[in-house]
Amino acid sequence: MSDSRSAPFLEVSALQSGYGDVQVLWDVSLAVEAGEIACIVGSNGAGKTTLLRTVSGLLRPRAGHIRLDGEEIGGLEPDQVLVRGVAHVPEGRRLFKGLSVRDNLLLGAYLRRDTAEIARDLEFVYELFPILKERETQDATTMSGGEQQMCAIGRGIMSRPRLLMIDELSLGLAPRLVERLGEALLEINRTGLTVLLVEQDVMTAFEIARHAFVIETGRVSMAGTTERLGGDPKIREAYMGM
Ligand SMILES: Nc1ncnc2c1ncn2[C@@H]1O[C@H](COP(=O)(O)OP(=O)(O)O)[C@@H](O)[C@H]1O
Ligand SMILES: [Mg+2]
Repeated sequence: MSDSRSAPFLEVSALQSGYGDVQVLWDVSLAVEAGEIACIVGSNGAGKTTLLRTVSGLLRPRAGHIRLDGEEIGGLEPDQVLVRGVAHVPEGRRLFKGLSVRDNLLLGAYLRRDTAEIARDLEFVYELFPILKERETQDATTMSGGEQQMCAIGRGIMSRPRLLMIDELSLGLAPRLVERLGEALLEINRTGLTVLLVEQDVMTAFEIARHAFVIETGRVSMAGTTERLGGDPKIREAYMGM
């Protein structure tokens, strides 16, 4: 236990990534400790989604390292990253049209064979978000934005991850719903799950997370506790409209 405090659970170092000729991440280093909620904030186009896509194996790093619990995962295929315990809730939820809420949730568990445990995790998701149980047989894409976000998070949980990464938790959702989702994340985190949140809404992110990394044009420009950064005049002016 004493080791896990000093060794980060997710460690990204000197990471470079991008698309074709377009380099997006230039030199990104950050560390997330086991059991914490951390967040990555930054303006539209800063490279937040590119970072998550590179961690989850959808993009190949051009240079640098991505380590999970000490093991190099940079450059692994998405399935391989998933089985090692990293779940990625994508920007815009990306639920499957024509599939029920239940089937969308179960898709999160498609690499698992532990049937009894899968059923247990499904119950956990339904306890966390009772509305999903009520809507179990409904086409998931016909639900409201907030309900779809719950389903997308639930699908992430169904892989029984060690790290849950959520891209734009609050985008397009009413404040009351965002608050509800934030409470759910704290509850999930209390089960021991490490959470990495990506948000354009800095205020929301800082309320939920303990540690923050600010990304500007593909580089980490500031890092620290949300308590400290939340009081930083530069952050308040640039990202909180104060
Ligand atoms: N598929 C793509 N092909 C080329 N460039 C892309 C692609 N996706 C994103 N980009 C560019 O990468 C940069 C970072 O985008 P992104 O990671 O989505 O930022 P954020 O999530 O912080 O808003 C932007 O300049 C964007 O235009
Ligand atoms: Mg994005």
